[in-house]
Amino acid sequence: MEEKKNDQKKVLQLKIDKLVSGGKGLGRHENKVYFVKYTAPNELVEIEVIKEKRDYGEGKLLKVIIPSNARVEPVCPHYGVCGGCQLQHISYEEQVRQKVEIFKEQLQRVGKIKELPPVEAIPSPQPYGYRIRAQFHVDSGKLGFVEDETLREIKGYGDIVDIETCPVLHPRINELIPDLKRVSVEYKNLREVHVTYSPNRDEALIKLVAEGGLTRQDLHRVKNGFLPPWVVGVGSYKRVGRELIRQEFVGRDYTFIAAKGFTYRVTAESFVQNNYLLWDRFIETILPGERRGYCLDTFCGIGFFTIPFSEHAFFVEGSDMNHYAIADANYNAKINGRPNTLFLRATPSQHMKRHLDKEIDTVLFDPPRSGLDRRDLEVLKELQPDRIVYVSCNPSTLARDLGKILSWGIYRYDKAYVIDLFPQTAHIESVNFLSKVEEKI
Ligand SMILES: C[S@@+](CC[C@H](N)C(=O)[O-])C[C@H]1O[C@@H](n2cnc3c(N)ncnc32)[C@H](O)[C@@H]1O
Repeated sequence: MEEKKNDQKKVLQLKIDKLVSGGKGLGRHENKVYFVKYTAPNELVEIEVIKEKRDYGEGKLLKVIIPSNARVEPVCPHYGVCGGCQLQHISYEEQVRQKVEIFKEQLQRVGKIKELPPVEAIPSPQPYGYRIRAQFHVDSGKLGFVEDETLREIKGYGDIVDIETCPVLHPRINELIPDLKRVSVEYKNLREVHVTYSPNRDEALIKLVAEGGLTRQDLHRVKNGFLPPWVVGVGSYKRVGRELIRQEFVGRDYTFIAAKGFTYRVTAESFVQNNYLLWDRFIETILPGERRGYCLDTFCGIGFFTIPFSEHAFFVEGSDMNHYAIADANYNAKINGRPNTLFLRATPSQHMKRHLDKEIDTVLFDPPRSGLDRRDLEVLKELQPDRIVYVSCNPSTLARDLGKILSWGIYRYDKAYVIDLFPQTAHIESVNFLSKVEEKI
């Protein structure tokens, strides 16, 4: 392909072969691979090289010379500047197809898994308006998301991309944006706003992170003076590393959601799955086809999977390190009449260790992006449940963990689903089923 050097700039023409993890397009020039954002497979593009390493480079898209058939006009005016979405320029059908390919590639490359199971895609019923949680960054009237990573790297800092609406958010969260901007003009120390919306109750909880915190009086003023009545609770939080610590809360600190005929209480601190349009389908995917025995649901959160799963099992124990989530899960077991469940605050390794003397049927894992840790894998190897269900939001740590589990020679990888909880973004959620290999006679 052609190479030009203008004013020190290195400009190349590349054909994009495929998308890779993170949603970047991959093309080759003189045996070197280049990663380019906002491109699509089979496109011919012109790029400016912005990073040149020994074995790979990164490019900035200058021009699409021959577009892909799957290229579409992005819906959002901030696309390409805002760091939230990576795939709006690709038709939704093609996004899902590409995610399945990236998923398989990660299993093979990172996990060294040779025999892949059948992989089925579950698309989101709608590709926009699906998100019921938002984390906004704010600064004196500006509210939005942090800038695209490449722009941040070039500038050395990241601006807040000030938005009026965000098309992946539930419309009710978008309605709050002007009110939240007014709050941030009034409270100049406000840095983050976290919203959780319940589409079943039509109500929202809001967490505010402000430098120096906000008083109860401030929170009452924000809740009653700036926000609509369907925001039922507002809290002031302090950020400590990746965690938010509650300082004050006014109003109700929980809401309820409904999925697959079950009702769940969700406290402001508890995790709730983001794409409400897939809640029922997600639960259906993890439910077993036949009645199961004694099962463990690690990283259980509010009991989102534990409670429905318990209708198909002798007993299900859930565990999570978040004590608010465990309190919700216990409450949820009661209101849904599930006596064959128990919840405890524990890491997966602590939880599994309690059962080393038992026959465990299924262990379900749904970890954060970091995946399982060394202890979790060691105890799992000792426990050897009949089945493993691994729900993952990060194919790379999933591949690492499954690669290890399969190397023990005890498990077979039966089936995987790529369930698209995050349309328009490069995030890949999957559900993976492993079963113990039959003893040879
Ligand atoms: C992806 S969420 C899944 C929650 C639940 N399965 C659901 O579908 O709602 C991950 C959960 O893991 C919990 N968690 C994070 N690190 C943990 C750890 N080291 N040990 C136990 N739980 C942890 C979080 O509190 C969160 O509830």
